[in-house]
Amino acid sequence: MFTFDFRGEKTASSSHSGGDNPADDVSQRISPAEVCPEIDWNGLSTTVLVNGTKMTVVDSLKIVDHLKIVGTGKMSIVQAESGHSDLLPGVYEGGMKIWESTFDLGELLFRKLGESLKGKTILDLGCGSGILGIIALKQGCASVHFQDYNRDVIVYFTIPNVQLNGDELLPKSQFWSGDWKSYENVDDSQFDVIITSETIYNPQSYQKLHDVIRKKLKPGGSAYLAGKSYYFGVGGSIKGFMDFVVRENVLQAVSLWSNDEGVKREIIVLKHRLEQPS
Ligand SMILES: C[S@@+](CC[C@H](N)C(=O)[O-])C[C@H]1O[C@@H](n2cnc3c(N)ncnc32)[C@H](O)[C@@H]1O
Repeated sequence: MFTFDFRGEKTASSSHSGGDNPADDVSQRISPAEVCPEIDWNGLSTTVLVNGTKMTVVDSLKIVDHLKIVGTGKMSIVQAESGHSDLLPGVYEGGMKIWESTFDLGELLFRKLGESLKGKTILDLGCGSGILGIIALKQGCASVHFQDYNRDVIVYFTIPNVQLNGDELLPKSQFWSGDWKSYENVDDSQFDVIITSETIYNPQSYQKLHDVIRKKLKPGGSAYLAGKSYYFGVGGSIKGFMDFVVRENVLQAVSLWSNDEGVKREIIVLKHRLEQPS
């Protein structure tokens, strides 16, 4: 099980905006051409099972080792992973791992939402591995925008993962790095469906997560958010985020699923207010 291990100099309450790490704060569109062609991605990959379906993903330990060898050891993803830190707030937000709720939401995408994704535009927010967006592409959606805080996560994890699961997925994909606050204003695009997993661990980020969903979700669209009921040591919780949504009074949140055993996890769906959640 992943832990929240804050080893960085920054505190759990540090916020991205304001320039903790300006290079990653500012939204940038990243071209798949930026992915290093000299890396043998197949050799660095492993497989994971989501709802019984095998998916190929870059092994984050192997790519971190590779980056150390080729002399890019100063990158935040390398420093964080080498220090066994899941999160360095404001620097690295855990995108090089596949978090538990990805499997919950992945299962929902496979089992219940598959048909309804056909032809839809999707935003995978805080995508990390990009597994959820890849599943949506495999289900026949029109396009996926993969968005994550760290450029290096997109370059060394998300894009290669999309490629590893089929070159035909790339033309339907866009890749964006940057803080949600910056991304919200990057263009006018809006999406039929937003999917986001394990992005509510830090209450300091509720406002910008809420605002980016509000801005990027089409009227009539649905945002599926999966996460742990409570994040010990960090303070975020599904209930805390749902209460925040109620206070803001522009979106509505409805509980969709929760598990019965182990660490308590949930999936909720968000819509613009005055629409019927489905
Ligand atoms: C705990 S990881 C979860 C990754 C992935 N969704 C999963 O479930 O495996 C949180 C993700 O949200 C992204 N994230 C957190 N805060 C962010 C912010 N303020 N702006 C953009 N992305 C953010 C991180 O970069 C990271 O990939």
